Amino acid sequence: MATLKLSNITKRFGRSIVAVNNIDLEVRDGEFLVLLGPSGCGKTTTLRMIAGLEEVTQGTITIDGVDVTDLPPRKRDVSMVFQNYAVWPHMTVYENISYALKLKKMGRETIDATVKEVTRMTKISTLLDRYPSQLSGGQQQRVAVARAIAVKPKLFLMDEPLSNLDAKLRVATRTELKAIHAMTKATTVFVTHDQSEAMSMADRIVIMKDGEIVQTGTPEEVYDESVNLFVANFIGTPPTNFMDVELTIEDGSLHLINSHLNLQLTAEDAARLKDYDKKTLVIGIRPENMLLASAEDAALTVQCLVAEPQGSHQVVAVEMDDRLMKIIVPAQPKISAGETIHLAFKPGSMRFFDPETDLRI
Ligand SMILES: Nc1ncnc2c1ncn2[C@@H]1O[C@H](COP(=O)(O)OP(=O)(O)OP(=O)(O)O)[C@@H](O)[C@H]1O
Ligand SMILES: [Mg+2]
Repeated sequence: MATLKLSNITKRFGRSIVAVNNIDLEVRDGEFLVLLGPSGCGKTTTLRMIAGLEEVTQGTITIDGVDVTDLPPRKRDVSMVFQNYAVWPHMTVYENISYALKLKKMGRETIDATVKEVTRMTKISTLLDRYPSQLSGGQQQRVAVARAIAVKPKLFLMDEPLSNLDAKLRVATRTELKAIHAMTKATTVFVTHDQSEAMSMADRIVIMKDGEIVQTGTPEEVYDESVNLFVANFIGTPPTNFMDVELTIEDGSLHLINSHLNLQLTAEDAARLKDYDKKTLVIGIRPENMLLASAEDAALTVQCLVAEPQGSHQVVAVEMDDRLMKIIVPAQPKISAGETIHLAFKPGSMRFFDPETDLRI
């Protein structure tokens, strides 16, 4: 178990590519931290610098308070699982897992016991004599995980380890990895570009964009209190709905107005927005916070473009001023295309963003 700290870490490739730009990051003892962001934002580079596979251009990395910035990978006590598993094809499952333990000069009995323990956790105990070519993708992936946890590293690093699995197996393996983490309590940094994977697995999520950290927080924090339009749009399926509105003072109170909407603000929201009189804002509202209402109580009346039944609920798509919005409503009554629907906003659920800075107000 360990803590990890990155201070002012920058990675440049050549002169012009800044893959990671001056990031600070702390991972707590036993934490499952997820690095999340779109392709090319610097996740793999960050992980490789932590593992020692990539030199840092600037900054320091400490593990348990010890500066490891210039240490080679094998002296850092970290284990990494890659996207392509990288299990050795010429070795059986048992040999794959025990190889590093032999190098550590562990005794035969201890090795046997460790292999037994980690293969029980990863549910591959019956496959010990098989070669990787005789395993499914999901099974190979478990071998890679078992091999990584067998060495009981201080830090466990995983780079998109589920991305080669089909959708259903991926979701099941997520749950298993989380259960394994609950057993091992190994400090883990897990990389993914899949927000739902991040949300379902992380203790805390670090959201990256263009080599920088945009927001760090629990899944609930990044979902409910997204710091900018990028995060509000990136997190959640369907993502946050956005509406452009103008703020005006009418009859002494603050209103948000566009061609579909005239909302009087609560005192709390009005206080937050007092500097934005006559300015354009973006409202962000989560799909489940737009509620079906009667015509009298509606803040917004729109037409259903399509309704997608999901069994437990339906996702209704509507269009407003060229922006597509999706709304999550109960499965019944069934809504059909073309139907007029009246919507109210759940109190306290609107978030406001400044279109000039993209930041939450
Ligand atoms: N060896 C390299 N030489 C030059 N540029 C590189 C190198 N490795 C990465 N980069 C660049 O650094 C940036 C970050 O790459 P990185 O692989 O860390 O992204 P990522 O977030 O892991 O993306 P993905 O989700 O696609 O795996 C990208 O612009 C990439 O092209
Ligand atoms: Mg990557």
